[in-house]
Amino acid sequence: MIQFFSQHQVLQLLDEKLTAVEEHFLKKKQLQQIDTKVTVENKILKGNELDENWQLSQFWYDDYTATELAKEALIQVSEKGTIALIGCPSLYYFLKKKSNDFVTVKLLDIDKRFEAYTDDFFHYNYNNPLPPHIPNKWNKEFDLVIIDPPFLSEECFLKCALTAKYLSKEKIIICTGVVMESFVKKLLKAKKTNFTPKHKHNLGNEFACFINYSSNRFTFAEKES
Ligand SMILES: C[S@@+](CC[C@H](N)C(=O)[O-])C[C@H]1O[C@@H](n2cnc3c(N)ncnc32)[C@H](O)[C@@H]1O
Repeated sequence: MIQFFSQHQVLQLLDEKLTAVEEHFLKKKQLQQIDTKVTVENKILKGNELDENWQLSQFWYDDYTATELAKEALIQVSEKGTIALIGCPSLYYFLKKKSNDFVTVKLLDIDKRFEAYTDDFFHYNYNNPLPPHIPNKWNKEFDLVIIDPPFLSEECFLKCALTAKYLSKEKIIICTGVVMESFVKKLLKAKKTNFTPKHKHNLGNEFACFINYSSNRFTFAEKES
């Protein structure tokens, strides 16, 4: 049997349909928000609890170091700031937790175990430091970039530094061996600070943290002239 509707009834039916669609999307959005919160509070993968793969030169920070670096990073960016991590997966968990998930953090690393961070993970190989291997839209996109290159060689540092400069609006934190100091100064105009990153397993090489801005927490090791 064919049913006829008045214009008024058709409009009413359309209105009801629209409300149902709106409610559906609102519910979906609320569920996504809850899901993100759960991920941050309970389920997020703590990078420095994974096994270190020494072939990839993985030496995780201890919790104190990761916490201090995260605190410094969050002071340097605004509440909704953007931070890129190049080769320092341990920091992701601490940044997300300390900021209550407010900051945007992108982790660039070769280790696909961190795909667990879904869209926040970007598969990166420092041998391909620039577009088209990294997104064009990331040029000068990040308020802060933190790098910890896998190898203590000029070539590796130069390539990671190219990516850092491409991504960064200005501020960069570098954690690397003291032996790299001259390259750090030359390529990124950064200076050694009094903060010494420590690792879960002691490293043979003396390590240091360098920054290319001034900070009240990470003061420069040498007085500025
Ligand atoms: C010296 S570790 C620094 C880890 C840092 N201390 C932490 O706790 O997060 C260097 C990082 O570079 C990554 N890596 C190794 N080879 C790489 C490559 N060819 N391209 C990009 N990243 C690489 C490793 O997976 C590792 O996370």
